[in-house]
Amino acid sequence: MPFTLRLLGLTLCAAIQVVEGISQTPSTQCSIENISGFLTQDDQAEVLMAHSISSNGSFGEVGDVAYPQNATYLPSLCVATINVTSSSTSSYTFGVFLPDDWNKRFLAVGNGGFNGGINWYAMGTGAKYGFATISTSTGHNSTGLDMSWAINNPASKSDWAGRSLHGSTVLAKEIVEGYYGNAANKSYYSGCSTGGRQGVKSAQDHPEDFDGILAGAPAWKSTSQQLWQLKVGAINLPEDGPGYLPVGMFAIISQEVLRQCDWSDGIADGIIMNPKHCNFRPEKLLCTPSSANQSACLTAPQVSTLKQLYLPLVQMDANVNTLTYIYPNFGLGSEVQMPSSFGSNNEPSAYGTDYAKYYLFDDPDWDWKTSFNYTTFTEAERLNPGNVNANNFNLSTFHGRGGKLIQYHGYADGLIPTEASQVLYDETWITMAEQGVDLDDFYHLFFVPGMQHCSGSVYDAPWYFGGSEQSSNLETNGQHAFPVPGVDNAKGWARSG
Ligand SMILES: *[C@@H]1O[C@H](CO)[C@@H](O)[C@H](O)[C@H]1NC(C)=O
Ligand SMILES: *[C@@H]1O[C@H](CO)[C@@H](O)[C@H](O)[C@H]1NC(C)=O
Ligand SMILES: *[C@@H]1O[C@H](CO)[C@@H](O)[C@H](O)[C@H]1NC(C)=O
Ligand SMILES: *[C@@H]1O[C@H](CO)[C@@H](O)[C@H](O)[C@H]1NC(C)=O
Ligand SMILES: *[C@@H]1O[C@H](CO)[C@@H](O)[C@H](O)[C@H]1NC(C)=O
Ligand SMILES: *[C@@H]1O[C@H](CO)[C@@H](O)[C@H](O)[C@H]1NC(C)=O
Ligand SMILES: *[C@@H]1O[C@H](CO)[C@@H](O)[C@H](O)[C@H]1NC(C)=O
Ligand SMILES: *[C@@H]1O[C@H](CO)[C@@H](O)[C@H](O)[C@H]1NC(C)=O
Ligand SMILES: *[C@@H]1O[C@H](CO)[C@@H](O)[C@H](O)[C@H]1NC(C)=O
Repeated sequence: MPFTLRLLGLTLCAAIQVVEGISQTPSTQCSIENISGFLTQDDQAEVLMAHSISSNGSFGEVGDVAYPQNATYLPSLCVATINVTSSSTSSYTFGVFLPDDWNKRFLAVGNGGFNGGINWYAMGTGAKYGFATISTSTGHNSTGLDMSWAINNPASKSDWAGRSLHGSTVLAKEIVEGYYGNAANKSYYSGCSTGGRQGVKSAQDHPEDFDGILAGAPAWKSTSQQLWQLKVGAINLPEDGPGYLPVGMFAIISQEVLRQCDWSDGIADGIIMNPKHCNFRPEKLLCTPSSANQSACLTAPQVSTLKQLYLPLVQMDANVNTLTYIYPNFGLGSEVQMPSSFGSNNEPSAYGTDYAKYYLFDDPDWDWKTSFNYTTFTEAERLNPGNVNANNFNLSTFHGRGGKLIQYHGYADGLIPTEASQVLYDETWITMAEQGVDLDDFYHLFFVPGMQHCSGSVYDAPWYFGGSEQSSNLETNGQHAFPVPGVDNAKGWARSG
């Protein structure tokens, strides 16, 4: 065959490649029967669906309330859904896209919030570059703010917290190897928020799963993160109190932060390069007799509320010499997104209250007004349902097998404080440095000036770099976006292993 090719030249060469493509195309194995054959009895898994999708096709699942956005503009591929029994009372599903034109690599994409469902759209972004791509449902069916599934359901908490991603990855690799006849050369992970936590936790607890991990804005200390959202919501309540900051006020605060902080990097370009370089004075927002617009300034109690939102949570023990650091604070520049961390109707966000009721305490009657105090934070860490926190800072095994971790976090994130990423990095630094390992060898942390939670920017700062959930943000607004800006897979993105 190579001899014939050389004789007949390029045109026929291309034609024969197509013929070879058909004769070798794995899509003849795109059936429930054949994919089932790649799994074993021990896997406790059942292939629910498998079929081919032709080039430029789309796919989504009606009833996927967590991820209703369909994957579109797909390359020709095989799609399958697998149901895995994870315990006598729990199960999760995962989806796979197996592109006909495979780049020899494996990619798992993450989830967000408390979402339960397969993230088909994000899988599509990977399949467009030829990755065999998977996503797990995490073991329940719900939108991101709905935690009612968790009550008295420790097995499903474990699935969401980590078991489903690891289990799905292990089984999906068996499918990939069976389907293509070769294991993937490299395995990657990409996710943001809860997805960032899933990625970091994989590096910590399942260091063999991925060679490279992209973890955005990780909710790595989930127990504190959720209760922090309760705390910041409570700081700004009650709505008829003198210190209450209505949602509309945050745009005004944001403008003042920009006015005071933009110059701190030496260039007034509408983007705060590093909020930590700014010495912001909320007092300048105070209403004075000479304030031109008495609706665009703050009362003294409102200034006090704002100052609290910029303070980290620390607990002073009975012994006044001991301060315990609990969780960081909103960063300067995150004001426009801050209200997303608050609730409504005189309640803090369900991210905090429903987390405590359904996920943490299994008690729908739990009342933050009477039961929430600093002890709740330590209690949450002690209970740690499902073992959700990614706080095993020893990445020794991951580092030893050549794993690489890239973490990023927007400086204007109003849902997960940017500083939480710094804390994770610093803790890992200490743990690894004590073992003589330089973090720079395998773990990089990037802060993105002006970027909100995972994507988007109030200041029109650049934020679109191929991170998780970024192209979906654009597609929701009606644009056909390639996951990596402007890089069309068909135009020669590096495809080799
Ligand atoms: C699919 O599975 C069936 C039954 O195991 C088998 O006979 C067939 O050869 C398989 N097809 C391919 C393309 O491997
Ligand atoms: C690809 O699919 C989209 C819909 O998902 C459609 O609008 C577009 O026309 C299709 N392009 C081609 C070349 O068929
Ligand atoms: C998503 O795709 C499914 C089939 O794959 C289709 O039934 C559904 O209507 C699509 N949803 C949207 C929002 O386009
Ligand atoms: C998830 O629950 C919704 C109801 O909230 C239902 O309509 C949908 O079919 C369910 N989806 C799956 C995949 O079970
Ligand atoms: C998955 O399997 C479990 C049994 O472990 C079953 O209860 C559940 O209904 C199955 N889910 C689907 C979507 O088939
Ligand atoms: C990549 O995978 C292919 C098969 O899929 C294999 O032939 C090749 O040797 C692998 N390359 C490396 C560098 O591992
Ligand atoms: C005063 O500020 C409020 C809140 O920003 C705004 O809606 C209103 O238009 C302003 N009034 C004037 C006269 O600028
Ligand atoms: C905190 O609240 C719990 C009840 O949720 C209570 O048992 C405990 O005494 C409180 N601790 C403090 C320091 O107020
Ligand atoms: C980190 O993990 C490695 C591998 O499991 C182990 O040998 C080492 O003792 C651990 N170090 C610390 C400080 O926990």
